[in-house]
Amino acid sequence: MISALKGMKDIKDKDAFYYEKIVKICEEVAKNYGFSYINTPHLEFSKLFKRSVGESSDIVGKEMYEFIDKGQNEVSLRPEGTAGVVRAYIEAKFDKSSSLKRWFYHGSMFRYERPQKGRLREFHQFGVECFGEKSVYEDATLILMLVEIFNRLDINFNILLNSLGCVECLPQYRQKLIDFLDKDGFCDDCIRRKKLNPIRVLDCKNDNCQSLLVNMPIIRDNLCQNCKKEFELLQDILRQDNINFKLDDKLVRGLDYYSKSAFEFVSDEIGAKASIAGGGRYDRLIEYLGGKSGYGVGFAIGIERIIAILEQKEFEEKRNGIYLCALDEKYITKLLNIARILRKKHKVLLNYGPKKLAKHLANADNLNTEIFLCMGENEALQESLFYKNLNTKEEKMLKIYNLENSL
Ligand code: HAM
Repeated sequence: MISALKGMKDIKDKDAFYYEKIVKICEEVAKNYGFSYINTPHLEFSKLFKRSVGESSDIVGKEMYEFIDKGQNEVSLRPEGTAGVVRAYIEAKFDKSSSLKRWFYHGSMFRYERPQKGRLREFHQFGVECFGEKSVYEDATLILMLVEIFNRLDINFNILLNSLGCVECLPQYRQKLIDFLDKDGFCDDCIRRKKLNPIRVLDCKNDNCQSLLVNMPIIRDNLCQNCKKEFELLQDILRQDNINFKLDDKLVRGLDYYSKSAFEFVSDEIGAKASIAGGGRYDRLIEYLGGKSGYGVGFAIGIERIIAILEQKEFEEKRNGIYLCALDEKYITKLLNIARILRKKHKVLLNYGPKKLAKHLANADNLNTEIFLCMGENEALQESLFYKNLNTKEEKMLKIYNLENSL
């Protein structure tokens, strides 16, 4: 038997039910907020991710599925969605006119991580990216969108919020931090991060590194006037909407492209403080990837983590669809025709094998269908079908010519 690769999972049955439900709700909310669908390739030049997600990130440093293709191109499976969408924005020259674009996407992302509950090597995200909008109201709107999505999915969450400053204030803060970090004891990863992007040391999971960070300089205390004003406005907007959030000085996100707002939605329902969604502003990224400088902000939700939360709750799929069957094989051609007509409006599971009525009823019950329709000799003579509603147990005969109106 050939199994699936470690950390890669089939999405089927109950998982598939939740997957579709999550994407449907996310899509509905995204469309209501003015976002439209974009689908970018799974495979991109590796340098796209190296330049955007950043060399200091674990994602680029350790986790990329990177290889040389048959044309000798250095390519990678996308570890996240933002970089590809920014590339698409620039490639279509929308950056030249600073066009306002709001896009949403969903699909597979690939990171060679150590698999565990809620952490896979191929996982799925639903994400949105907005380009050309400078206002911090957009950042707030994205947070409100996430609140709406998680409320509709009936998922509890906490919001963590931080500001990472801008080109004006971040370099000075970086220098302060580099001076502070100039001591021994940090792990190898942090030594690498210190050189490449020192603020990434702040969210190291190593306890010893965390103990060395006591009394560290705080980004929020070092913001320029503009970043400070915008970050306060963002908080005010959320408070006015009665959205609870917690300021987190160590929230720097695992990707290098952020500036200004950074946020994460965490949940305790699948392990301590698991991140179920994350995002923020990345104004520098468009220019950094060769476009005209502009504005970008977005988020992504980890679909498998939401599935894991929903699965812990009661799973009760409502009975649905029609089970159509016959007691004798000679009626099956007739049923094929009936099924073709009903399928314009209804889900129909047509059983091709003639069986006893009780066996068909048991089948219909196992398949969780709602309506049972069966043709036997009596029904065939009367141009009818035997009907049973498996919820209400109501039974009757339905004339075939009027079937569509009777269901
Ligand atoms: P991220 O925080 O790396 O951000 O990922 C977003 C979400 O994807 C996480 O909150 C988590 O739920 C889920 N996730 C990440 N890694 C895994 C994994 N190995 N297995 C299962 N789920 C996972 C981004 O990817 C950014 N592109 C978000 C963004 C969009 N920022 C701006 N625009």
